[in-house]
Amino acid sequence: MKNHVYFFDTTLRDGEQSPGATMNLQEKLRLAHQLEVLGVDIIEAGFPASSPGDFESVRRIAEQAGDIQVAGLARCVERDIDLCWEAVKCARNPRIHTFLSTSPLHMKHKLRKDPEEVLKLAVAGVRRCAGYTSNVEFSAEDFSRSERDFLCRIIEAAIDAGATTINLPDTVGYAQPEEFADLVGYVIRNTPNADKATFSVHCHDDLGLGVANTLAALRVGVRQVEVTLNGIGERAGNASLEEVAMALHVRRDFYGLEHTIKTEQLYPSCRLLSMIIGQPIPNNKAIVGANAFAHESGIHQDGMLKNRETYEIMTPQSVGRTESSLIIGKHSGRNAVHNKFESMGYKLDDEQLNQVFEAVKKLADRKKTLLDDDLMALVQEEIYRIPDRLRLRHVSIQSSDAGGVPPTAAVIMDVDGMERSGAGFGVGPVDALFNVIADMVGREPELEQYAINAITGGTDALGEVTVRLKENGHSAVGRGTHPDIFVASAKAYVDALNHLGKREEEGRRLHCQYDDK
Ligand code: KIV
Ligand code: ZN
Repeated sequence: MKNHVYFFDTTLRDGEQSPGATMNLQEKLRLAHQLEVLGVDIIEAGFPASSPGDFESVRRIAEQAGDIQVAGLARCVERDIDLCWEAVKCARNPRIHTFLSTSPLHMKHKLRKDPEEVLKLAVAGVRRCAGYTSNVEFSAEDFSRSERDFLCRIIEAAIDAGATTINLPDTVGYAQPEEFADLVGYVIRNTPNADKATFSVHCHDDLGLGVANTLAALRVGVRQVEVTLNGIGERAGNASLEEVAMALHVRRDFYGLEHTIKTEQLYPSCRLLSMIIGQPIPNNKAIVGANAFAHESGIHQDGMLKNRETYEIMTPQSVGRTESSLIIGKHSGRNAVHNKFESMGYKLDDEQLNQVFEAVKKLADRKKTLLDDDLMALVQEEIYRIPDRLRLRHVSIQSSDAGGVPPTAAVIMDVDGMERSGAGFGVGPVDALFNVIADMVGREPELEQYAINAITGGTDALGEVTVRLKENGHSAVGRGTHPDIFVASAKAYVDALNHLGKREEEGRRLHCQYDDK
């Protein structure tokens, strides 16, 4: 398949290790499922040796996966490789991805080894992986700052030792597209056994060139791209999946390359990630930003009315940004709701459908037409949320601009199944709410982030609030959606408290299991 480009998604590994993008197990499983629906070829589910939590989530993703390849990352050391195999082996198509630095700078200062020692380590590491599986990827970390001849030697040796994919990362986002393509092309041409492996690139975005470098490498023979949704990843992030996929799709005439990404699943996938990690998609983000298909200027609008192609190189539908013709509202039946969620890529069992159906009815009482974004928020909140220790029941707020009458909040919620109530003040209504809830559960977390986003247009839009809390060295994100932003704020705060508690518990539990290995 000379013209097939393999999409290797590393949202759950490189993406998840970036600031503020931590996900819990349930969220990772949900995203992994969506990546399969999106049509990626390989998911990098995590770095099993990095923490007990990572080991467990890679194992669970491997267990749940269908035919998609599931990779785990491992340094070129025995323990990492063994743990990685333990975690991925139950997947139908497991892969071990092992890496070692090859640049003079990294070898000298990070590894403190000379090139010959590094070469031996790479061969030993790849051999160990190959003892477990024939699906082995080797990455030459900091490839773009490595010496050409050494690269060809170590890559030839890695292929001889059993690597079937060779990844060439621009680890620090330093390369320029022409220069990068030149280096990649040189290595492919001058590695004697290059025809026995698929070449891959993994480009960081420190100079905003991650996608450009990735596309340039495809022109010289690379056939696997390592990318993330919304471009999340270490520092400035990685090349973004949706941008690379749409460049190949819209400019098929130029690249002549095929892939299996279902482009109409791009927006739902990016939106899901944004909801999970609580990071809004910037308005001007290519493909999935709110303005990506908005035409504001009169000249552009005029052009669009005459012929869409004057200013539109792809349709919103092609990336999954349209409302489908199935409109959901107050009078929609269970079947219509079921079909609607199926068309959006959600497979719900009977119990889940009942739960969502009830929530749809409640929301439709307040909002006439439910848009796809409303429904995505709702299913995320109702289904993919772990059962909670704290559950919000009622909220009442009194805001005030009169001196001497401070904003007041009253809250009723269940704590471990017992109903409790509380009331208190704050400098503003949100502050009052958060003070009351924290007092009721005897916690004092630090509020690291608070953001409100209107999910859909109009004054009856669902408000989506994201809250990030920090306590005892753990951070957790919580989300709440509701047409009333104070209720959404309280839900988000309670959600973050639940996640914080879960994170602490999970850490303790997995630590015990992991120590036994
Ligand atoms: O950026 C990088 O070099 C990596 C490797 C582990 C592939 O993430
Ligand atoms: Zn990386």
